[in-house]
Amino acid sequence: MYKKQTILKIGNVTVRLYEDKRVYRPLAVSRLIASCIALKGGEYVLDLGTGSGFLAIVASKLGAGSCVATDTSPDAIAMAKANAELNNVHNIEIRRGNLYEPVENERFDVIISNPPMTPSPRPLKSETYGGQNGRAVLDTVIKGAREHLRPGGKLLIPTISIIGIDVTASMLAQLGMSYRCVGYTIVPFSKLLRSLEEYITKLPNASIVYDRHMRACWTAVVFEATLLS
Ligand SMILES: C[S@@+](CC[C@H](N)C(=O)[O-])C[C@H]1O[C@@H](n2cnc3c(N)ncnc32)[C@H](O)[C@@H]1O
Repeated sequence: MYKKQTILKIGNVTVRLYEDKRVYRPLAVSRLIASCIALKGGEYVLDLGTGSGFLAIVASKLGAGSCVATDTSPDAIAMAKANAELNNVHNIEIRRGNLYEPVENERFDVIISNPPMTPSPRPLKSETYGGQNGRAVLDTVIKGAREHLRPGGKLLIPTISIIGIDVTASMLAQLGMSYRCVGYTIVPFSKLLRSLEEYITKLPNASIVYDRHMRACWTAVVFEATLLS
C-alpha cells in the first residue's frame, strides 16, 4: 500500500514508519516530543493529532499500557494503523475525529500532542495550519486537558517561539497546572516559514532568533504540565 519506509531512532527506541506525502512526516518537534516521553509503565496515553502514529508508537514502545490516537485526516488514520502493525504494536486504538471529540468522558494518565502551529493569514494544509496566530489548535488542546487527565496526569505539549512560548506558560498556570520545560531545540525557518516571515514578524507574541549564518530560526520547547487537583 505504501512504497517508502523510514526508520527513526529516539534514544533506545526504534520506530519504522511508512512515508506518504498525504500524511505528516515526523519533523524536529515530533522528535523532540518523542525524546521527552517518560513513562513508568502501564499508563493510559492519548496522542491528539497522531499523523503517522509516531508519538503513540513511541509511547507504546516505552511501556504505555494502552494508547488512543486521534486525527481528523482519514489518510493519517489509515497510515497510523498500518504503522502500528509495522511496529508490531497492538495496544493503540486509532480513532478519527476532532481533537477530544473521540474521547469524550475519558481520562488519561498522559496526553501528548504535536498540534499544527504555523501561523498564516491564509489557510494552509490542516497538518500545519494553526490559524492566523498559530495557536488555534494548541490552545484547544491545552484548555481541554483538565477534563481529560486523571488526577496527577501529565500533558506533554510543545510551543514554538513564533506563536508565543510565554502565552502557553501563562495558560498552563491559569488552568492550575504546574509545568516545567523538558525539551528545547532551535530550527531554521522552512521554505514555507520564510515565505511568511514578514507576517510572522508582526505577530505580537512572535520571537525569532538568528543563527550564525543570520538565518531566521524558531525555537521550540516542550512543556510537561501536571494537573494539581
Ligand atoms: C504537526 S502534525 C503532527 C503529527 C504527529 N503527531 C507527529 O508529531 O509527527 C499535526 C496532525 O494533527 C492533525 N490535526 C490537525 N487538526 C486536528 C484536529 N482538529 N483534530 C485532530 N487532529 C488534527 C493533522 O491531520 C496532523 O496529522
